[in-house]
Amino acid sequence: MTSKPSASRRELLKAGLAVAAATLAPRAALAQAPLLTRPVPATGVRLPIVGIGTNRFRSGDAAWTARLRDTLAAFVRLGGKVVDTAPSYGDSEQAIGAILAGSGLRDRLFLATKLDRDGVIEGRQRLEASFAALGTRRLDLVQLHNLRGAGTLLPLLREQQAAGRIGHIGITSSSDSQYVEMEAIMRREKLDFIQVDYAVGNRGAGERLLPLAAERGMAVLVNLPFGRGAQFRAVGGRPLPGWAAEIDCSSWAQVFLKYVVSHPAVTCAIPGSTQAVHVEDNLGAARGRLPDAALRHSIERFFDAITDS
Ligand SMILES: NC(=O)c1ccc[n+]([C@@H]2O[C@H](COP(=O)([O-])OP(=O)(O)OC[C@H]3O[C@@H](n4cnc5c(N)ncnc54)[C@H](OP(=O)(O)O)[C@@H]3O)[C@@H](O)[C@H]2O)c1
Repeated sequence: MTSKPSASRRELLKAGLAVAAATLAPRAALAQAPLLTRPVPATGVRLPIVGIGTNRFRSGDAAWTARLRDTLAAFVRLGGKVVDTAPSYGDSEQAIGAILAGSGLRDRLFLATKLDRDGVIEGRQRLEASFAALGTRRLDLVQLHNLRGAGTLLPLLREQQAAGRIGHIGITSSSDSQYVEMEAIMRREKLDFIQVDYAVGNRGAGERLLPLAAERGMAVLVNLPFGRGAQFRAVGGRPLPGWAAEIDCSSWAQVFLKYVVSHPAVTCAIPGSTQAVHVEDNLGAARGRLPDAALRHSIERFFDAITDS
């Protein structure tokens, strides 16, 4: 039988509840806060700093389709906007198009896809196929995938942009073997966006490409913010360090994403996910405090110590 609390114990319990409420209240308020946004320099369009990558979206059986539908629905419900896909991700564009059809979600998204051809005729056909697969009359961003077609297809993208069918144009890479070429294109061409790989465990793009993007007024999407998931395996079951609370992080995913989006040149990170629960976790990184330069350095040292050991 539990005894009735004494007067002093009652006071302590009350005080404890007050402390718990004080810690919970800001967390609950944080969950309701709007997502942090950044402007695209070329157009002023504001985008939440965390989006979603869909390179594992595919058509599938009913359970899989329901999973992807829930993932995108959660993303929109929680305020997400930037969805990145490509015609080369299996039938990701078709799978997204099927979810969006008749859902009313299209207009709440910033739809980004890619083009991966060299010739103008093939490029035009491939682009039209993306419009059809996604079931949209306007693509918010079209990127030359892995720099392919950078010498031939920018005029096509600019023509489509002038016609109002494409909102923004850009180029992508996820390999440091392409950084020299990417830098040359960024210096030569006027682009609205670049997309590049950058993560606490993969910081090469931070050396020249991210500062150059800021200098040239180009928005930056960051792919592979979790190193394709390898960073989760690196931290394993380690508890979050004390400093994670200083930047309102309750998971490693949020630490990894806040590291990426706190780089001043970054507009939006696009973590790949096929699970609503992960989307909710990831969008949590678009709320609350971000690490300053000193804390970014601590995150790097922490991660390097784990991966060097
Ligand atoms: N060259 C290019 O243009 C290029 C190259 C690569 C990627 N991309 C783009 O960048 C996007 C991101 O890359 P990526 O998806 O390969 O790698 P990533 O974002 O670094 O990692 C994705 C992995 O992390 C998992 N994950 C996501 N959120 C999580 C969370 N909160 N907790 C635990 N695990 C979580 C995902 O699993 P679940 O699915 O189970 O959530 C998936 O296994 C791609 O989808 C694509 O749009 C572009």
